[in-house]
Parts: sequence; C-alpha cells; structure tokens
Amino acid sequence: MKGLAAAGVVLPTGAWFPSCSADKPEGLSWDFDKVIDRFGSWSIKYGRLEDLGEKGSTKLSMWIADMDFMTDPLVSKALRDRVDNYVLGYTRTPVEFLDSVVSWEKRMHGYDVAREWVAPCPGVIASLNQAYLTFTEPGDTIVLQTPVYDHFRIYIEKMGRIPVENPLIEENGRYRMDFDGLERIFEEGSKVLVLCNPQNPVGILWDKETLATLAGICERHGVMVFSDEIHSDLTLRGRKHIPFCSVSEAAARVGLIFGSPTKSFNFAGLSGTAWCIIPDREKREKLLGTLEKSKLDEPSIMSLTATIAAYSHEPVWLDAVKEYIQGNLDLVYDFFKDNDLGIKAVMPEASFLIWLDCRSLGLSQAELMSRFSDDAGIILNDGISYGTGGEGFVRMNVGCPRSVVEEALSRIRKTFG
Ligand SMILES: Cc1ncc(COP(=O)(O)O)c(C=O)c1O
Repeated sequence: MKGLAAAGVVLPTGAWFPSCSADKPEGLSWDFDKVIDRFGSWSIKYGRLEDLGEKGSTKLSMWIADMDFMTDPLVSKALRDRVDNYVLGYTRTPVEFLDSVVSWEKRMHGYDVAREWVAPCPGVIASLNQAYLTFTEPGDTIVLQTPVYDHFRIYIEKMGRIPVENPLIEENGRYRMDFDGLERIFEEGSKVLVLCNPQNPVGILWDKETLATLAGICERHGVMVFSDEIHSDLTLRGRKHIPFCSVSEAAARVGLIFGSPTKSFNFAGLSGTAWCIIPDREKREKLLGTLEKSKLDEPSIMSLTATIAAYSHEPVWLDAVKEYIQGNLDLVYDFFKDNDLGIKAVMPEASFLIWLDCRSLGLSQAELMSRFSDDAGIILNDGISYGTGGEGFVRMNVGCPRSVVEEALSRIRKTFG
C-alpha cells in the first residue's frame, strides 16, 4: 500500500475495477418503475413543461433523449466516493480513462482499439463541432443521411458549414443508405459525412456490409466519416453494434468515432464524459491539436470518474435497463399493431427512442404535433426536425417508467381512436 491507502483513506477502487460479477452488485438496487419527479431539477426535458406553468404539469414529457431513471448505482457510488475522499483540483486524464474505453469497446463490441487511438472529448456534439473546424472550411458542405439527429444540421449551420442531405431510402418501414445518391453528392465536392451509428431516430444498427461499402465510397472520393456512436451500447435483443472504423482498413483510414456513456448510463447532464477513437495518426493529431488550443482537452474530475466507473464493471445495470426499455418498446409497438389508429411504430434495433409513422392520418405536421401536445398532452419530438423523410413522423422517448408509457398510450387511444 502507498499514499492515501496507506493512510487508511478509502479509495474508490470498488468502482474502478471491481470483480466482474453477473449478479446485481451487492447492496445496490434500482427500480425502473419508480416515478421520479424531475420538475425543478434543472432538467431540459421538464423545463419545457415548467415554462407552460399549470398547463405543463399535466403533460407527459417524452421528447429529448435522456431517461427518467437514476443512473447506474455504481456510477453514483464512484462520484460520491470521489467527492468524499479527494481534493477536486486540476485534473489530468488518467490512463485508466483510456483503458476503460479500450476495454469497453472490446467487451461490448469486440473491437480491438489501441490505447493511443483514444482521447477524452467534450460532448459528442461539441467534439463534432471541433472536427468540422479542424477538417473543413467555412462554406464547405457536410453530408447527412436523413432522417437523422437534428443537432447535426443545427450545429453544422452554426459552425458556418452547409448541411447537404442524402436521404435514406425507406421500404416497408426499413431504411437503407442511398449509395448512388452519395456518389452524386460527393462528385460535387463534400469532405465529410456524419454517420449516426446506430441511427437516431430510425433506430437502425448499420450492418458490416453497409458500413464497409460506405467506407469504400468515401475513401474513393476523399471524404472523411465522423461516426457518432453514442447510442451503441443500447443494442436490443442481443443484437451487435459494429463500430465504423472496425469494418475495413479504408474505414480505419477515413473514420473518426465519437462516443460516450451518457445515453447508456443516463448521465447526459455530465458533459465532458465523451471520447473519440481515431486510428489514423495524422487525423488524430490534428483534432487533438484543435481541442488543446481551445482548452477542451481537460475533462472535469467528475466526468472522468463517471466514465471510468460506467465502463469498468460488468454491465449488470445496463442489461437490466435495456430489458426494461425493450418491455416499453414492445408495449408501444403492439399497441399500434393491435389498434387501428392510423399510426405505425418502427421497432428500433437500439436505444429508447421509437419512431412513429403517422402519415396515414393525413394531417399537416402542425396539426399532428398539436394533436399530440394539446389534445393528448404528450410532448414528443417533431419528425420534421430530423430532415427529409421525417414529415408525418414523431419520435417518442420510452426511457421512463412503464406506467408513464401506459398513460401515454391511453391518451393516444382517446385522442386518435
Ligand atoms: C445521435 C446523438 N448524438 C449526440 C447526442 C448528444 O450528445 P452530447 O450530449 O454528448 O453532445 C445525442 C443526444 O440525443 C444523440 O442522439
């Protein structure tokens, strides 16, 4: 023993690399059925209801992508231990952070990552912004395959770049990439494509063949791929996520992966917990140079603690939350299958967001949103915000207690039945 341990101080080793057990960690518990009052907790999701005053208090908040559950108790325990036992001084990124990402990618996704490919990052969107600054010029175009997470478009525009859409092709509720469309767009000179893997809001886990084809096309046209893999740990029904850079040598050359434990472990409010994996040395050094210049290369002590704690034990809580999410998704999917309301649910392959196809209702998008928000009292995300292909759709977040989902479905039956 040395240092603090020798002095009898309890180090938070239990949360760092505890013995891997498949059981619920002793003394730690969770209850996903419990309704937690998030009003007044500074939450963006509930802030929108607070702004509506009395009227807001009766609405269900099922939009922005965080869950209404407490985080994994091993993460909270590590954060508590950190506050209780350490000085919260200036912090350098410990090697444990890099190793926890390397080990997690191997255990969860079978991806062999070298430690030097990994670096801590501010949030995923903040890091994508830094990557646009590093690898593109103002006025350059950046390709998005819509419908896709709206903050890609929003921040590409804020950074003075131009988003260009190559919409996914939809066939019977299944989506695939339009490679011919990509070739046409790339011929006009884009330098970057932002990939959402898995894709929010349509819930697709991209397969190896698709990703390898994408990598080949991109490399041929000198296009880099920024792969946002923030939802990758929330794969459902035992499905496998495939990290973009793992699919081929071309993918490793053109790809940058951005991820974080915030979606899977539900601590999206802890910014600075993200990371990137960049196998190509030159690209890595360029991006890290930009982060360093902006002083965005020093995560806070709490964010480092949270990420290491999340990744350094067996995913017992994560498996349990995924099973609970699947139960909620099944409920929603079966409800729309069994009730002829003119709405169809697209079952996601990953994450807690479900894409509802309301096109056969024949409503304008404004009417559709008003029926959900004003008549049913449910706040959802507007499909149109995700770009071409989103019209006639809404996105529902079922990362909440089952009773909330049941209440939402009962309100939907009354409104649309
Ligand atoms: C696909 C995707 N990427 C990124 C984010 C946000 O990531 P961050 O909070 O790390 O910027 C979200 C949040 O909903 C998301 O769905």
